[in-house]
Amino acid sequence: MAKMWAGRTDGVTDRIADDFNSSIHFDSRMYRQDITGSMAHAAMLGARNIITNEEADTLIAGLEGILADIDSGKLAIDMSCEDIHMFVEQELTARLGDVGKKLHTARSRNDQVALDLRMYLRDEITEIIGLIRDVLEALVEQAKVNADTIMPGYTHLQRAQPITFGHHLMAYAMMLLRDIDRLRDCARRLNVSPIGSCALAGTTYDTDRRFEAAKLGFDDICLNSLDGVSDRDFAVEFMSDVSVLMMHLSRFSEEIILWSSWEFKFVELSDAYTTGSSIMPQKKNPDMAELIRGKTGRVYGDLVALLTTLKGLPLAYNKDMQEDKERVFDCVDTIKMCLAVMAPMVATMKSIPENMRRAAGNGFINATDMADYLVRKGLPFRTAYKISGQIVARCIADGKVLETLPLDVYQSYSPLFGEDLFEEISLDTCVRKRISEGGTSVESVLRQIAFVTEKLTQL
Ligand code: ARG
Repeated sequence: MAKMWAGRTDGVTDRIADDFNSSIHFDSRMYRQDITGSMAHAAMLGARNIITNEEADTLIAGLEGILADIDSGKLAIDMSCEDIHMFVEQELTARLGDVGKKLHTARSRNDQVALDLRMYLRDEITEIIGLIRDVLEALVEQAKVNADTIMPGYTHLQRAQPITFGHHLMAYAMMLLRDIDRLRDCARRLNVSPIGSCALAGTTYDTDRRFEAAKLGFDDICLNSLDGVSDRDFAVEFMSDVSVLMMHLSRFSEEIILWSSWEFKFVELSDAYTTGSSIMPQKKNPDMAELIRGKTGRVYGDLVALLTTLKGLPLAYNKDMQEDKERVFDCVDTIKMCLAVMAPMVATMKSIPENMRRAAGNGFINATDMADYLVRKGLPFRTAYKISGQIVARCIADGKVLETLPLDVYQSYSPLFGEDLFEEISLDTCVRKRISEGGTSVESVLRQIAFVTEKLTQL
């Protein structure tokens, strides 16, 4: 069949070229945005007397009918069309006759597709923020239960200082709050309408771009028509934000995987979010967390693919840009799935406080607190640090830990050591005394929880 754009050529393309060129098998997911955008366009054409008001009403009613029929499943999208824009126009003309052919006055698919993608992302960002919120709620609940659960805090994956599990979880809550902030910022910046840029240069019709933008809930219009049709910054920005978000989920997943290993056993995942092995009967594998970690690479790939596609593209629209949508859609689908599985996995995860405490107690995790003890007794920190290091070395040589080294041995290193040392270096004291703002003390964790809870009510 000849294409709707037949004219300059006979519009007959080779089947392979057709398949290669067509985007309907993926851009049909924007049918709602496409039709809604067209309704606003028809209304604008009517309001500016570019078509009659009656024609505008007919077009809008026709478009409403198409939307309802796709929604209800009565109308199947014709996959032989080149793209969703062509399909909607073809269907409209089939239903309305010649008046349907007026819809595409004073616009082009170039500004239309840019409009659709912005509207689509705007909707998806709202959904994604809702899903992040579910993860945040799960984190807050777990942090409340574990506000005083002592575990080892690590640097270099070496036991460093005692912290609480609640504190560790709230670190992820802070990351996710920033992710929401970034996505909101992206939604704000993308909420600028390109429609009316037309093919590239604007139009000779007396259009009202602001009318159309306002009808579609945009805050502003793109002020340069070339930029309007060439700009995919918003898609790159969205994928960057999702990449950072995935990086956070991946780091958390990695810790969940470590924590649920037999070597750590700090947490036990619910059976619902683990799998068994087909051969090893003892296995309970954290597949969901591993997949989240794995899919992070895929999202980074989407981002880099689009950046690479855009690099070196001359203005204005080039067909290369059709490659944007599958990458964006893949990002949207992936992040939504990851968040949807992360929330209940975290909510149902059980901490095992005795194992965490055992791991915290078995090393020299309180060595900093021993040095701080000497500082409080009057030694400069660097001197106290050195003595403490020597004591640790002595413990290792003697097969002891700080709690079991006799006081007289301590006193052979410094006369400042007294009986109160053992209370001062107990794990509970170490955590209780970390009162600095943002520290690991229980009060500080409760303050963080209150902060995040308050932020959630403002969303
Ligand atoms: N399917 C195209 C895309 O996704 C729509 C814009 C086509 N414009 C054009 N002049 N061929 O980019």
